[in-house]
Amino acid sequence: MAVPTQSPPRARSDWTIPQDWDRYTAQEHAVWDTLFARQTGMLEGRVTSAFRRGLDVLRLSRAGIPDFVELSQRLEALTGWRVVAVPGLVPDDVFFEHLANRRFVAGRFIRRPDQLDYLQEPDVFHDLFGHVPLLTDPAFADYMQAYGAGGLRAQQFGALQKLARLYWYTVEFGLIREGSGLKLYGAGIVSSFGESKFALDDPSPNRIAFDLERVMRTDYRIDDYQQSYFVIDSFEQLRRQTADVDFAPVYRRLEQLPVLAPDAILLTDKLITRGTMWLTPSAERGAKACAAGVLLGLYGRQHGDLFQCAAFARLKPQQAAPSRPLEIKDLWARPACQALWTGG
Ligand code: PHE
Ligand code: CO
Repeated sequence: MAVPTQSPPRARSDWTIPQDWDRYTAQEHAVWDTLFARQTGMLEGRVTSAFRRGLDVLRLSRAGIPDFVELSQRLEALTGWRVVAVPGLVPDDVFFEHLANRRFVAGRFIRRPDQLDYLQEPDVFHDLFGHVPLLTDPAFADYMQAYGAGGLRAQQFGALQKLARLYWYTVEFGLIREGSGLKLYGAGIVSSFGESKFALDDPSPNRIAFDLERVMRTDYRIDDYQQSYFVIDSFEQLRRQTADVDFAPVYRRLEQLPVLAPDAILLTDKLITRGTMWLTPSAERGAKACAAGVLLGLYGRQHGDLFQCAAFARLKPQQAAPSRPLEIKDLWARPACQALWTGG
């Protein structure tokens, strides 16, 4: 669990770095354009209207990787949020502190042309395209800030894992009711070509009405599509049921209850669709993905959970190439991160 505690040499004490927008190559801008076109095509009719509005008002459809400074000016005028660049994963408290102050931290690097579907750490496409449009929605913007403050608080209660599940099943993989159907809003879904179809259209996963305590008890998959998605009625509802609730007694109550598997169904669930679960997890696949650093890197420490990665590695030790579980510092050793670290 060796998250570096010191900020990298070239970063400020809050771990932010300049985006160095001028240093993107034409090829890097072209990767953004390819992903953008492909993803907006896939999201047509599938994504929440708040997301589409966000893309428009932030002018994200203009060619090339957005400049964080200019993007932040637009965003700040709407909801007071800004986007800041960081070299990669940051410690939890740094992450929460930024959110609590309406700063969204984003990676600056972009995946290579041969990695359009396969990504080992969140890049600028996931972070910007996936997360930033919804920060233009007032209720969602409040939710994210409150989440940051809640994160700092949860650390004192030793309840980070429960709070991380909430992030996972809302900010990253949430669905929302809209009109007569369901729509996508989670960043992990909307930035993924495969999952943006799967989450909505596939018969495999459960789709369950959002319930705060239910969600905070539910483990999640970090190496594959989700087995259950939770559906909110509105961003207002999400804000009301989280920001306006004192989590201290909730955390205490949850201590007494068993953790639920990602595919569990309870009698008390409001099931919207019961999944066929044709896509079932495979421990072998999990271990392989872990060895490849996918589990660790796909969404990172602030989204995911290193414990799960280590658990997979133990499950099938012969599958896991490294002799020890992967740690954050392994990720930092990747060329994409290292160049940023050293300024190369
Ligand atoms: N209200 C929560 C608490 O008391 C904080 C929180 C807000 C958590 C919004 C998540 C989302 O800790
Ligand atoms: Co994310």
